[in-house]
Amino acid sequence: VKKLRIAIDGPAGSGKSTIAKILAKLYNLIYIDTGAMYRYAAYLYLKNNQNLDIVINMLKESEFNFVKDGETQKLKVDFHGESKLYDDELRTVDVSKIVSKVAKNKDIRIILTEKQKEIAKNNSVIMDGRDIGTVVIPEAEVKVFLSATPEERAKRRLKDYETKGIKISYEEVLEDIKKRDEEDVNRDIAPLKKADDAYELDTTGLSIDDVVRRIKELIDKVY
Ligand code: C5P
Repeated sequence: VKKLRIAIDGPAGSGKSTIAKILAKLYNLIYIDTGAMYRYAAYLYLKNNQNLDIVINMLKESEFNFVKDGETQKLKVDFHGESKLYDDELRTVDVSKIVSKVAKNKDIRIILTEKQKEIAKNNSVIMDGRDIGTVVIPEAEVKVFLSATPEERAKRRLKDYETKGIKISYEEVLEDIKKRDEEDVNRDIAPLKKADDAYELDTTGLSIDDVVRRIKELIDKVY
């Protein structure tokens, strides 16, 4: 069986994870949500008095896997013989507000990028994030860059929060998204950027089915 690696990059709320989950099922790929790993770093940062050295040391000694838990997929972290699943605690408003700041740290990026490359080396994967097509899997068979207007992305995120029973206003979500975009695009290391050979798709006004169909066409050309 030929190996298939799909890289999906784009800003928050562009539809990466929704699309990646569907394609993972269709093509029997492991879905790697790299944002969850950065969110885990941010979660540790909040838990440890905002001490980056502690976070860096913990990340070095953590093993990351993605496992099914009912209908959802969760981040499994093995640390010092203990195994724990994470999901909701990584998607709080507090974590979202600081994750881009934590993700700028050079040591954190080196550690997580290395672990992501390792997973991609041995498996057929669909990986989503900000730097997958440019840094983590530049050799990916298929690269996609998803975008959408900030307003559309904020609406989608607001829906996610509502589903989870988290109370937050549209304005606050929009502001968070714009701030995170700016930090992710302008950072020095591995900024959010379309790879030269990535297929760009503006998903504003497109249905999930539309987006999946377009990317399927792309995959079927090479695979
Ligand atoms: O994908 P998600 O929105 O959950 O990612 C949260 C944050 O993690 C992003 O805003 C970005 O700062 C960081 N991130 C990153 N590189 C990745 C994935 C996520 O810097 N590959």
